[in-house]
Parts: sequence; C-alpha cells; structure tokens
Amino acid sequence: MTPARTDPLTIADAAAVLRDGGLCAFATETVYGLGADATRSDAVLKIYETKGRPRFNPLICHCADMEMAERYGIFSERARSIAAAFWPGPLTLVVPLRRGAGLSDLVTAGLDTVGLRVPAHPMARELIAALGRPVAAPSANPSGKLSPTTADHVRAGFGGKVPVLDGGPCQSGLESTIIAVDGETITQLRAGALARDDIEAALGHGIAIAEPNAAIKAPGMLKSHYAPNAAVRLNVSTPALNEAFLAFGAPPAHSGPTLNLSETADLREAARNLFCYLARLDASGAQSIAVAPIPHVGLGEAINDRLERASAPRS
Ligand code: TXA
Ligand code: MG
Repeated sequence: MTPARTDPLTIADAAAVLRDGGLCAFATETVYGLGADATRSDAVLKIYETKGRPRFNPLICHCADMEMAERYGIFSERARSIAAAFWPGPLTLVVPLRRGAGLSDLVTAGLDTVGLRVPAHPMARELIAALGRPVAAPSANPSGKLSPTTADHVRAGFGGKVPVLDGGPCQSGLESTIIAVDGETITQLRAGALARDDIEAALGHGIAIAEPNAAIKAPGMLKSHYAPNAAVRLNVSTPALNEAFLAFGAPPAHSGPTLNLSETADLREAARNLFCYLARLDASGAQSIAVAPIPHVGLGEAINDRLERASAPRS
C-alpha cells in the first residue's frame, strides 16, 4: 500500500499533527502505536473513540527519556534502577502517578498509577522529543483485534482514516512487557517483548505474575483480544484438512495455507512474525487457524499469552 494522502512524511509533520490535538500512528520497536498528546483530554478522547476502546482501560504514556518520565510518575529507587537497565526499550513501568503534573485523566482512566515507557525506536523517541510532551499510545488497531506491526496493518485496520508515520516493520512484533513497581514489590502485569527471565536476571530474583484478570491493576488484560476473524485452535500438531496452519519449527505436511513462525524454532523470530502471520492466514479466508505448540520459555510466555487471548471465546 502506498502512503495515504494524509500521512505525515517527516517527524516534524507528525509532531505538528499531535500538537494540533490530532491522532497520528507511529512505529515503535514493539508494535505501531496510535498516538495523541497525553496532556490533552480532547486529543486522548479521540484514541478511545477511534479504537472503540473501553474507557476503563488506561493507556501507556510514552516519554522521550527518563527525565520526562519522572515528570509524570513517581519513581522509587527500585523503579529507577529497572528503568536504567531496560529503557529505552520494550518495558512499561506502572508507578504511582504524579498528580497535578498535567497528564490527562483519560490516560490513566482515573487510576492513581501511570504506565510509562521510553521506546527504543529512534523515530518514536524523536517524535516525542519534537512534541516536547508525552504521547499516549495504545496499539494502533481497533480494540480487540490483532496488533499492527507495519504501517499497512494500521491503514487496513482503520480504513486509511488515521495518518501513519511509517517507520518500517516493528522489530519485536509483540507489545511491551508491563510490570508494576510498588515500593519493593514487582509484579508482571503483562508478558511481552522483554522476556521475564531477562528482568529477573537483572534484578537477581524472581518476580510475581499478576493473576489473569486481577481486578483493576491490568484492566486491559481482557480475555478475548488479538482476535482474527477465523477461529484459533492451539497446540495442534496435525491440522485438519480445511484449516490454515501456523507452524513453529519443522512443520507436518499440510495442504492448506501454512506459514511458519520460525523454521529454526527461534522464539524471537516467532514473536516478530506472530501478528503479521495471523493476519495473513486470516486473509486466506480459512474458518479456523490451527497453531503449533510453542514452548513456554523466554518469549514463548508472551507468544502463548497472545495466542490464548486470540483463541478465547469472543463476547
Ligand atoms: O508495546 C506496547 O506496549 C504498545 C506500544 C504502542 O507502546 N502499546 C500497547 O498499548 O500495547 P495497549 O493500550 O494496547 O496496552 C496497554 C496496556 C493495557 O493492558 C492497559 O490496561 C495497561 O497497559 N495499563 C496502562 N496503564 C496502566 C496502569 N496504570 N495500571 C495497570 N495497567 C495499565
Ligand atoms: Mg493493544
């Protein structure tokens, strides 16, 4: 797909769209974000409307650097050292909100915490720096659908109605890992592009994992999410004849549409391909997508999380 007529071609143009209170999608190293100036409620409201997102589900606030992040969140020593280890990068830290700092209440959905992230993608950081304010951005897909890892996915998802700053295909392909830091207590709220093992190795100890659907702390962790149109069937070694097949490692012979997340069983490659391949198999018109078993280690934790939500009963 070629750029839409309204797509900004430079970072300065994209920053101008945000400064005017508009929405602009942009690349991050995880997935594309649907950005708005996080200090303007009129702009942030457009994110919820455009995505069809429930208002109780707070947004991640993207910052250019640690200094900007500390303006909006209160960092304990613990939180600061985790940020120093992993920012810029695919980690969101949920910390107490600094009240009166100017963040729109719609970003936090009225919670007394805020999810902050300094992305690693250079275009994302330059965009935020050019705006000079934090950028609220959920994944740039209609609520409940597959997350976008290319500019074309964003254009397809919103029918070309949202301008996109094209930064190429996303390197990780999975959303950021979210951890809450409450004093000394660290809890993983969402598995993501930074494997929990890597965080635990840096900390020198294990971290707790939030119960699925644990009340308010991760209101975005809705059971059915990332849903293609086709049904999704997990842990399948032998797909049915009429199914599309999402393979991992050496695949069985299958005559239907087949894509392999990683022939060499590399979880990083599989993560990068996950949403894109689900979208392509969905476009094949198959009624059901069978997915090969994915080992539950390292990034496999996040891949399996997304697959479980993709296969959950739709409400
Ligand atoms: O990689 C990513 O994280 C991407 C890119 C664009 O940065 N963003 C993303 O946003 O995945 P979204 O809205 O699709 O997911 C954000 C998640 C939601 O599950 C939301 O509930 C949670 O973050 N969240 C945000 N603020 C929170 C808070 N204060 N407490 C608990 N969960 C929070
Ligand atoms: Mg999302």
